Amino acid sequence: MVLAAGLLQIPVIKKAREMGYYVIAVDDDSNAPGMALADKAIVPGGLMNEEKLVAIAKEEYIDGVIHPCSEVAMNVMGRINDELHLSGISKELAIRATNKNLMREAFEQYGAPSPKSKCFSNVEVAWGAFCIEFAGDAILKPSRNSGSRGIAKINGNIDEAEFAKLFERAKEESRDKSVMLEQFIDGPEFSVEIIVWNKQVNVLQVTDKKTTEAPYFVELGHNQPSLFPGHIVEAVKRAAIMGVRALEVNNCACHAEIKVQDDQAYIMEIGARLGGDFISTELTHLSTGIDMVGAAVDVALGVEPNLTPVAEPQGVAIRYFTPEPGKVIAIENAELLNRSDVYDAEIYVGPGDEVKEVKSSLDRSGHVIVTAATAKLAVETAEGLIDSVMIIME
Ligand SMILES: Nc1ncnc2c1ncn2[C@@H]1O[C@H](COP(=O)(O)OP(=O)(O)O)[C@@H](O)[C@H]1O
Ligand SMILES: [Mg+2]
Repeated sequence: MVLAAGLLQIPVIKKAREMGYYVIAVDDDSNAPGMALADKAIVPGGLMNEEKLVAIAKEEYIDGVIHPCSEVAMNVMGRINDELHLSGISKELAIRATNKNLMREAFEQYGAPSPKSKCFSNVEVAWGAFCIEFAGDAILKPSRNSGSRGIAKINGNIDEAEFAKLFERAKEESRDKSVMLEQFIDGPEFSVEIIVWNKQVNVLQVTDKKTTEAPYFVELGHNQPSLFPGHIVEAVKRAAIMGVRALEVNNCACHAEIKVQDDQAYIMEIGARLGGDFISTELTHLSTGIDMVGAAVDVALGVEPNLTPVAEPQGVAIRYFTPEPGKVIAIENAELLNRSDVYDAEIYVGPGDEVKEVKSSLDRSGHVIVTAATAKLAVETAEGLIDSVMIIME
């Protein structure tokens, strides 16, 4: 059973079918693009409704459940695993891996490297703590959300009114109406793709991430393998492994986000699931030759994953289109995306569409994935295509 059947879940639905499994896609939108690709499509009328989803899982006698590249139904997935005694993570672990406050507590207890961080629901209390306990720049972010929604970097000398505005914005975006206040880690960002099998933590790949500047940190692109020096990549891997152990997850894919400041790695967050932005589902198999999606499906079913490369490793990069805000009047040079080293490309907007300022992942206008002999070459080609395919605004 695959929970959600959008663009990002398609590689998982396709792979599980290729592996010979009977695949049930579940999404509240009957027109979600993955629905038609599954053996059976179910519209539950509330993907986050645990009772309903557990009932469906029982009726269908499922052997495994996976919720790839999304966080909204992680708890439901955990509950299904509990009730049907399936291989994947429990509800308790799913809660910990989607709540940024519980996650930070686990990291701290285990000694996994994590920035100074506190959770608040009251703005005055948060402001008091900021003034007394936090020196320098900080981050405000929802305790429960994803996709960079509601995040803001704040300057050490921000005034109370501005702090309150950004706090309330983060709170508004948070599913449990609480907000994380964190020390700001200044430096490059990475992700680490991991498969956990019987608590054994296997690192598949380290990704360099490119995001917009403060305040929103929206992801603009990723490349694999990392172009950073070996000692940095090793520090990033070590932090990710400690973080995954701290979460105590057993059988799942993990996507760890890490930043490095002064050669020291700090965990931003870890999702106990395949990561978004095609990193886990497409980039990792292209750059390592390891079938990460197949491995994630296997561990969800309690089958030992095959983590040996089955294809030639290459350099790979994804870059996103983020035109200036306004109304689109035309797309020009789109035929450039037909080159053979373009693995996948899509422009999400067309003439007449409104493009907003890029404040979260949802505001991006398209993507291109390029493969090459090295990550550096892939990045150059992908960035060249982003510059030459023109989204013309009014
Ligand atoms: N403490 C921090 N220091 C520096 N940057 C941070 C911090 N927390 C979050 N960020 C930035 O904001 C981005 C989104 O934060 P994250 O915790 O991953 O939330 P989301 O669930 O929205 O992805 C991170 O990838 C990172 O770029
Ligand atoms: Mg994140």
